[in-house]
Amino acid sequence: MKFIAFSLLVALLFSASDIDKLYFTHPTENDIEALIANMTIEEKVGQTCQITLDAIHKTDQKGQALIPEQIDEAKLKEALEVYHVGSVLNVGWHTLKLEEWKSVMSDIHAPYLKHEQNIPLLYGIDAIHGVNYTVGGTLFPQEIGLAATWNPEFAKQMGEVTAYECRASGIPWNFSPVLDLGRQPLWSRHFETLGEDPVLATKMGVALVEGYQGPKGDVDQFHVAACLKHFVGYSASFSGRDRTPAFIPEKYLQELYLPTFKAAVEQGALTLMINSGVVNGIPGHANYQLLTQTLKKDWGFKGFVVSDWEDFIMLHTVHHTAASLSEAAIQAFNAGVDMSMVPSNPQYKTYCQDMIQAVQDGKISMERLNDAVRRILYVKNKLGLFQNPMPDMDSYTKFGSNAFKSIARNAALESITLLKNEGGVLPLNAKQHILIAGPGADNLNMLNGAWTHTWQGLDTNFNSREETIYRAVQRLFPTPGMVDYQKGVELFMENDFEASRFDNLKAYQKAIKKSDVVVLCLGELPSTEKPGDIHSLQLDEKQKELVRLAKSANKKVVLVLLEARPRIINDIEPLCDAIIQAYLPGDFGGDALALLLSGDADFSGRLPYTYPRYDGVIEFYDHPGSVARAKSGQFNAYNPQWDFGFGLSYAMGMINGVRFAHKDENKGTFDIEVNVSNPNNTHIKMVVPIYLSDLYASTTPENKRLIDFYKVSLRPGENKTLEFSFDANTLKRISADGKWRAEKGTFEILCGTHKIAFELFDDIIVE
Ligand code: BGC
Repeated sequence: MKFIAFSLLVALLFSASDIDKLYFTHPTENDIEALIANMTIEEKVGQTCQITLDAIHKTDQKGQALIPEQIDEAKLKEALEVYHVGSVLNVGWHTLKLEEWKSVMSDIHAPYLKHEQNIPLLYGIDAIHGVNYTVGGTLFPQEIGLAATWNPEFAKQMGEVTAYECRASGIPWNFSPVLDLGRQPLWSRHFETLGEDPVLATKMGVALVEGYQGPKGDVDQFHVAACLKHFVGYSASFSGRDRTPAFIPEKYLQELYLPTFKAAVEQGALTLMINSGVVNGIPGHANYQLLTQTLKKDWGFKGFVVSDWEDFIMLHTVHHTAASLSEAAIQAFNAGVDMSMVPSNPQYKTYCQDMIQAVQDGKISMERLNDAVRRILYVKNKLGLFQNPMPDMDSYTKFGSNAFKSIARNAALESITLLKNEGGVLPLNAKQHILIAGPGADNLNMLNGAWTHTWQGLDTNFNSREETIYRAVQRLFPTPGMVDYQKGVELFMENDFEASRFDNLKAYQKAIKKSDVVVLCLGELPSTEKPGDIHSLQLDEKQKELVRLAKSANKKVVLVLLEARPRIINDIEPLCDAIIQAYLPGDFGGDALALLLSGDADFSGRLPYTYPRYDGVIEFYDHPGSVARAKSGQFNAYNPQWDFGFGLSYAMGMINGVRFAHKDENKGTFDIEVNVSNPNNTHIKMVVPIYLSDLYASTTPENKRLIDFYKVSLRPGENKTLEFSFDANTLKRISADGKWRAEKGTFEILCGTHKIAFELFDDIIVE
């Protein structure tokens, strides 16, 4: 019986695809409405279905993608003609050459271009720090490094370059930026965030969206649709393990986690991806209140919402909020998810069949289905896909150009953060014998991290540069015999977790003896999502031993950290003369580090998070209250290794003062001026953060919180005045009664060592 029903369904699906072939050159809104009116349920459901490339490409006998990648015509035909699939994502675990992308795109768009399909496919990819699945693409620092530049201009430029190179690869949709807040350093995707602070993440995230989509969101053939992820609270997992539950009080969801997404929606972001986890007991994919009420109704989000990987399925198999796959699809779709990243074969077929049935049974309304399809077609149209799903891919002549590379190198230069420099050990000089050591010293993958050429970023086959830290330093100090290299420790994966062993320790110790300074490049292997789970934040013991050995031989030690998240180093910190946080600086991290180590460039990166001192004590700079007991010396209640925003430069700028240029304490409008200067005889870049402190409020106010920041360039001797205006919107917090309110009372503005106070005479309720 079941078989007969299935056969009938398939027959129905086949005949349903035989509709009028519409081919638009430039559809208007009315054209789109007419198209929707003419679509069958099957076609509409197909638009909401996203499959991975693996579902339609040719494989070998082991199921591995053929290289070069080839589309399996029969599988494609079935996906398009029977199931009317609307979107494809990713690659089969490797990186494609531009010509391979061209061949894939030509194959998958051929039915549309031959007018056999009336709706173009939408291709999406995780080009999260540059176009990382195209050989020769320009690779930037990962988002955490980008945030450390405190320079939104770099975020915009990275967005522009990445969008251009995505389009050169035929891809119009990028699953980026990650706007999750980096408030759980154990989390394997901490490096994908823009740090712990909502103001920093908002400014950088909005600039990224602008770079991806173009200044006015026009999204021409050089821009792509951004995808804000992962809405919302994914990063706050309680256990630190990937995709495990988070508990976020409503106040902090509103104040910390939602504003960055809201600002990016206001910037016109076209798509948004959902948190795979559970927040306050509700799976992200089943949260009607957040997806439909907050995002679509309250914020007016016009684009579409895509699920994360297999997350419709997870509602049934992992989160247990749906007793069957079909119920799971209904739950997620009715909560407001418009497209399901199903994405495998044959699962996508089950999804389509379940959805069709649910619409026929009235469990999903036609209105809701039309709404999802309208949103998807709106985005496809915005991207110009109806006109041409693959603009001339040969015309993108700037792909991988030197101009793009120098932007990525400059971003790396501005991200890398100097945390300690005692006794003037840095900059290094050409007369010193330098030993560059550690697992990250001659390793391009450790500069790039995960999502580089493959998901976990461990494969070396597709690397297109050779300039590691060791090689770049050697190039800057070319005198033979002056720069030496030893790995010292080998990192590898064992039983799903990172492990280490010494690598020729004798040779390392011998090399130490010959050297004046040992530059130790330590950190972690690339990893993300589940494979990136760790048991402890401690930096690997064997790597720490390399520091101890160098120090006990009385050498100067420079520690370079290549970290996806801050690892605990409090025991070796005193043994290091200099410490540099490089994060995951990308393909040009080696070049950038060499320039910074040699003093040919100066550091201007600042920490985008509070660097923890202890494994079990995670704290944030904007903690509530003033931690009074710490002040009286009883407890080290707030005592991180380094504070949020910390960083040194060879030539430091000065914040000379802050003053009110205007203040209206009744209306709550204020203008301030901050005076900065460069007392050095070199050009500098300095970060100027402006913090606010509310002294007393109905809910314990943050000790201080960032309200804005500037990254300024100053010529030698130059003096500048920076202007900043704010109002009740900046002062507001969720009050004890649950309302957004700027509460009357005394506030302070903190900038450098300067502080000015003001009063707000009355409460101001802000929506
Ligand atoms: C990740 C997303 C990513 C998607 C597609 C998921 O596992 O959580 O961030 O965009 O895969 O690759």
